[in-house]
Amino acid sequence: MYNVRDIALAPQGHEKIEWVKEHMPVLSHIKRTFLKKEPFDNERVAVCLHLEAKTAYMALLFQELGADVYISGSNPLSTDDTVCAALAEEGVHVYSWHGIDPQSYYKNLTTILDANPTIIIDDGLDLTSLLHSQKRPPVKGACEETTTGIIRARALQNQGLLQFPVIAVNDAYCKSLFDNRYGTGQSAFDGIMRTTNLVVAGKTVVISGYGWVGKGLAMRARGLGAHVVVTEVDPIKALEAHMEGYRVMSMDEASSRGDIFITATGNIDVIREEHFEAMKHGAILCNAGHFDVEINVKTLRTLAEGRKIRKNVEAYTFNGKTVYLLGEGRLVNLACADGHPAEIMDLSFTLQILSAQYVATHSLEPAVLSVPEEIDTTVANLALQALDISIDTLTESQRAYLTSWKYGT
Ligand code: NAD
Ligand code: ADE
Repeated sequence: MYNVRDIALAPQGHEKIEWVKEHMPVLSHIKRTFLKKEPFDNERVAVCLHLEAKTAYMALLFQELGADVYISGSNPLSTDDTVCAALAEEGVHVYSWHGIDPQSYYKNLTTILDANPTIIIDDGLDLTSLLHSQKRPPVKGACEETTTGIIRARALQNQGLLQFPVIAVNDAYCKSLFDNRYGTGQSAFDGIMRTTNLVVAGKTVVISGYGWVGKGLAMRARGLGAHVVVTEVDPIKALEAHMEGYRVMSMDEASSRGDIFITATGNIDVIREEHFEAMKHGAILCNAGHFDVEINVKTLRTLAEGRKIRKNVEAYTFNGKTVYLLGEGRLVNLACADGHPAEIMDLSFTLQILSAQYVATHSLEPAVLSVPEEIDTTVANLALQALDISIDTLTESQRAYLTSWKYGT
């Protein structure tokens, strides 16, 4: 069963999936080494992720490894209808289309939960929260992809409401170090540049949040020749950004200086009315955080009516100036581009598959749990192998030197 925009779009989707497959060697390795074992036989895997070609390759892999797969996009603007059609043609149960309204989105998630999944792969915790709110039987466990989803899972745990284990895939080294930092750093600028076709060099780029995502954005903004300003609420992160050579200031100060604003905090109302009021004519606003809550678009829409002037660009004119909003304030790298590069999602999705296998084969407590260290190390080793990079191993005497030190020796 499926519900997609147009099944005739499948050939284009297959083309996109074939391309990313070539660039996701770690997942392909997992496929070769695990296939004999079919580790997901008898599992029903429910997926709610940005539904583009790389996600599709992972879904097909779950299927090849024995699972029945049910999938929905996690954001209306990141769902690729051609990819949905290709997956449906392959027998994956797909319920998603680009531009979906909230009511249909939750209806689709409910349809997926009606299949009584045994494992959830979530991005933002929507599927897991819906299951909790509908008082359904728990699944064996969920694997959560992003920082905001982990924050929500921890909130459920702290309120004593979490019914099953949630593996914090986001917090694995092979996820946040690479996906959040290098992945978003590159793909957000891909989105900004292909949407605006404007120069970044010489502009002042204001990055809000100097966590993993903010670090990647700042690094790439500098590489493109921008003057980088960072806003933060955490004094340690703010100091770190300062030591890295960025200008650090409050949003009150930055709002009149920035040419391009990118939010990456996972928080609400980072850019709000007083900041819109202070902005220069021509300022460009976008968001890289999970939800479209970081730029207060509701308030912006009270200041002026948005005019769609170009694909993924709305212009707001008020007080004699115009500011531009990209991708409706949703994740700019997914709403205005194709998400992270394939080689990056290769690591994140290998972590997802190995974490799902861990959930399938262990009886775990209902808590937010770390990805086991061996899984993280396995993914790093496989990635190095795929890149033909060899590293040193400790000699016996080096291991002894590092582990056998005693007081007084
Ligand atoms: P993080 O926790 O490492 O960093 C967030 C930072 O924002 C923290 O340093 C925090 O102090 C700061 N912050 C919070 N409120 C702030 C405010 N009002 N003003 C300024 N700074 C503030 O999180 P992260 O991993 O960098 O993720 C950030 C967001 O990006 C999350 O919503 C996450 O889910 C999302 N994310 C998006 C993508 C993508 O593809 N676009 C990829 C990974 C993560
Ligand atoms: N593609 C699929 N899932 C993604 C994610 N969470 N971030 C960026 N690109 C993606």
